[in-house]
Amino acid sequence: PGGGRVFSGIQPTGVPHLGNYLGALENWVSLQHRYPSVLYSIVDLHSITQPQDPARLRSNILDMAASLLACGIDPERAILFQQSKVSEHAELSWILGCLTSMPRLRHLPQWKMKSKQRSEGSVGLYTYPVLQAADILLYKSTHVPVGEDQVQHLELAQDLARIFNNNYGDLFPEPRALLSSTRKVKSLRDPSAKMSKSDPQAMATITITDSPDDVALKLRRAVTDFTSEVTFDPETRPGVSNLVTIHAAVASISAEEAVTQARGLDTGAYKKLVTDAVVQRLTPIREEIERLRSDPAHLEAVLARGNRRARELAAPVLGEVRQRVGF
Ligand code: ADP
Ligand code: NA
Repeated sequence: PGGGRVFSGIQPTGVPHLGNYLGALENWVSLQHRYPSVLYSIVDLHSITQPQDPARLRSNILDMAASLLACGIDPERAILFQQSKVSEHAELSWILGCLTSMPRLRHLPQWKMKSKQRSEGSVGLYTYPVLQAADILLYKSTHVPVGEDQVQHLELAQDLARIFNNNYGDLFPEPRALLSSTRKVKSLRDPSAKMSKSDPQAMATITITDSPDDVALKLRRAVTDFTSEVTFDPETRPGVSNLVTIHAAVASISAEEAVTQARGLDTGAYKKLVTDAVVQRLTPIREEIERLRSDPAHLEAVLARGNRRARELAAPVLGEVRQRVGF
């Protein structure tokens, strides 16, 4: 790369699960070393689009801050901040919303998925991707790590950069997607679905603060099949292949190497090997989260500094936007 600015956000929905860590956060950590400017935001404005509990939200924000730091986000390298504390996000979102048509938003995944669960969705849920575009453009970000499920939202940000530039003169670079590893961790109970925090089955998801006993129990109960040998074939053997994916990811080896290590083991014995690998990887993270979580004032201070640094970048960009718009 050489230059460029990375922006990404994560909702404060409690402690991340193994899929979030291996599919996104691990990549966030490595991007800190590859780009000169990196911003990671706990996007709390995005988490009030559906009914929510204020005390829970407050606690979830600190859980996420502790989790990100424990996973390796370095507040000296990355600006780690809380979205709602930088009011420029909301203001730019309004301005960009005025450049967006209703039909442009109707088919985006956030609305299609979540509005179905409820009889009606909020206006905030509908315009959620506009706020995401504002998050990105506010810092003139050039690179955005996203999962495949977010590609359409990034396309909106690209469109809005272009539309703004056409209307008001060049200001925003068109942000590019950095497709994070296509690695997908599957549900332990239903390997045809991805591991997700919204899975109602507790046994389906490993969170990064699970105790070694919890990890062992969940992996013991993980769905496999009637073949005892360990092979990697996600199409025909999704359950055991998910274990291989997890093993390979936490041990930083390839799937082939993981299968080699499993030679001679049946799936039951392999689950123990995978448990050890997961526990080894998660233990320092879990301990660090506990340590950080016991000192909320420190976490708040880390965020306050990030918020200040983010505001310093955001304010002049929004000032320029206001000027161009005619305010
Ligand atoms: P969830 O599906 O649990 O609600 P999010 O949608 O909040 O998770 O995703 C946060 C980040 O974690 C995204 O970058 C997403 O691509 C990644 N992610 C979520 N679930 C998985 C998974 N099972 N495997 C790999 N990456 C995942
Ligand atoms: Na999701």
